[in-house]
Amino acid sequence: MRHELDAIFRPRSVAVIGASTRKGTIGRETLHNILTAEYNGKVFPVNPRAQVIHSIKAYSTVLDVPDAVDLAIIIVPKEGVKEVVRQCGEKGVKGLVIITAGFSEVGHEGKVREMEVLKVVRDYHMRMVGPNCFGVVNTDPEVNLNATFGKTFPKLGKIGFITQSGAMGEAIMSQAKEMGIGFSVVASIGNKADISSNDMLEYFKDDPNTDVILMYLENFGNPRNFTRIAREVSQVKPIVAVKSGRTKLGAKAASSHTGALAGLDVGVDALFEQAGIMRVDTVEELFDVAMALSSQPIPKGNRVVVVTNAGGPGILATDALINHGMDMPNLAPQTIKELRTFSSTEASFSNPMDMVAGAGPKEFRLTLEAIKKDKRFDTIIPIFVPPVTIDQLEVARNIGAALEDTDKTVLACFMGAGEGSAGIEHLKSLGIPVYIFPEAIAKTLSTINSYKDWRSRKRGKIQTFKVDTERVQSIIARAAGRKEGAIVGDEAIDILDAYGIPAASYQYASSAKDAVVAANTIGYPVVLKIASPAVLHKTEAGGVKIDLRSDSEVRRAYKELEKAVGKLKKGQTFSVAVQQMITGGVETVIGMTTDPQFGPLLMFGLGGIYVEIMKDVSFRIHPLTNQGAKEMIKSIKSYPLLTGFRGAPPVDLAIIEETLLRLAQLVKDFDNFLEIDINPFIASPERDRCKAVDARFIVRGTK
Ligand SMILES: Nc1ncnc2c1ncn2[C@@H]1O[C@H](COP(=O)(O)OP(=O)(O)O)[C@@H](O)[C@H]1O
Ligand SMILES: [Mg+2]
Repeated sequence: MRHELDAIFRPRSVAVIGASTRKGTIGRETLHNILTAEYNGKVFPVNPRAQVIHSIKAYSTVLDVPDAVDLAIIIVPKEGVKEVVRQCGEKGVKGLVIITAGFSEVGHEGKVREMEVLKVVRDYHMRMVGPNCFGVVNTDPEVNLNATFGKTFPKLGKIGFITQSGAMGEAIMSQAKEMGIGFSVVASIGNKADISSNDMLEYFKDDPNTDVILMYLENFGNPRNFTRIAREVSQVKPIVAVKSGRTKLGAKAASSHTGALAGLDVGVDALFEQAGIMRVDTVEELFDVAMALSSQPIPKGNRVVVVTNAGGPGILATDALINHGMDMPNLAPQTIKELRTFSSTEASFSNPMDMVAGAGPKEFRLTLEAIKKDKRFDTIIPIFVPPVTIDQLEVARNIGAALEDTDKTVLACFMGAGEGSAGIEHLKSLGIPVYIFPEAIAKTLSTINSYKDWRSRKRGKIQTFKVDTERVQSIIARAAGRKEGAIVGDEAIDILDAYGIPAASYQYASSAKDAVVAANTIGYPVVLKIASPAVLHKTEAGGVKIDLRSDSEVRRAYKELEKAVGKLKKGQTFSVAVQQMITGGVETVIGMTTDPQFGPLLMFGLGGIYVEIMKDVSFRIHPLTNQGAKEMIKSIKSYPLLTGFRGAPPVDLAIIEETLLRLAQLVKDFDNFLEIDINPFIASPERDRCKAVDARFIVRGTK
């Protein structure tokens, strides 16, 4: 055996413990499936109350089996699982698949039962899939194992499939079969007490029969390990995942912009993005992507050519492809020259290449033969809309013949032909996936393309800067003594300063006269903000006066702020902060929020008082590398605003990157912070005009 888990996925003998004579029971169907799939090993039904099951001699216990047993499938009632597992240990069984339910998924009592079983598994150095799972499948003809109780034995294929939900596993397998998509190994991992999705990823990484990995996940055991392992595996084999519960986490009550913006499951998105996993929203998309990856090469780039016999679908395809970030260059002159020798004069000779409605098998063949030589393209999309007069199968045969030997990626579209048409089946049999609509192809290509980009990215480094931790420590200690649990104002600015994050300092004034003096020291223009009483969101309280250019404007602003605050509580005195006005920059937001599953998430985005409306932000799971910071900055929609929009000079991106990394270091050094907002961090073309002008820290435990 090559791998420890081969005992489960490539066993030489299987005991079915809890096999049953009664049709329709899990114990009987599982045994039946193993037999009908023509498993290439020995099978031993185990049941104390039967002599024979399914025409095979049955044994009372696994200990009575005369031969060695590699794998035991366990279907006995939950109370009996532990003893059966112990017997397996005594027998020298190496792998277990526990189908029985009623463990950690049903609450505390079940959890205890699961831990007891797991202890026995570990004591005997066995490995276990489940409990509460649907079983395992290996389609390798050398193995042919279908140890599930479902109705589908999948086709042979190159996809390794990990599913947390047994029901979804069965649904996906049966739909895949209908679509002609095959699997190498299927593992329904259930409660993941021992073997986790991480173990399966590592197994698939080295499995020569698996080229692509599909996952249906509901939660992550240990997100950190998952990221690390998935990242390694993604380097070698593509991983596509549907993660359910996109909106379930919901928005929790958050005190910061960063917290509010992280309401949805951005943690999962960030994790997948960091690990190079392709996330799809629906099972349909899962198939679209899986179909392409399992039968076609990953495109070398994003340049696409569309060849169609109908104008409309060509335009649809073009729109969809461009919207998904694909490029559609013109045909090379040489290609056009060749096409002219046989094409109808109405044909377009552009991209999309519209051969017009009369085009039949021969035109498809000649056109594609010319186009596959064109070095301007990485992917070819033949689109065929079958008119009644043209034989679909003949068209498919000619498309196939023309493109069979190309090293470009080919994804075909047969619009309105209907699933299962002879033409579609023919192309699929040649390994050319066929889609019904061009949008699906565009989305698939863009998903695969981002994976390809991820794979060619540089690995980043975590950077450490010289900082003043003691200063931060003392500010936190001071805050802990107070009720509000937030650090704002000059204390917040001080924390940034201690970590080398450039910030515009605050000068306090408790009279209009002092404010004017401060403004003159700083130099006009200045900004006045309410400092006392401390408010979390100053703008909402009418507490920010910007762009003040003279002594009289400062005096007036002071009075207005005083009025906005109104009557103060006993013991409070009114004061304002006077701050240098940073002009001519782009307001960005840099923040952190704590996700219950993933821990600290760092955020970067377009900042200012409208952040929650714009929602143009990106997240990364802590820790952050320099490469990760670069990608965060690049991935926001407003990125062009930073790189010099409409002739404006570009802002200093290096200082934003450094600020993100310094904040990441602060988050590593102090686990006291629940949420952090630096909003705005004003980014300007000149480094010394890049400054945080407002920050707030929500301290853990005080909220
Ligand atoms: N020093 C400054 N320079 C330039 N603009 C500023 C400055 N301080 C505040 N602003 C502007 O005022 C807005 C609100 O100020 P801010 O201090 O962030 O208060 P809050 O977020 O509590 O409402 C900022 O988003 C920015 O547009
Ligand atoms: Mg602000």
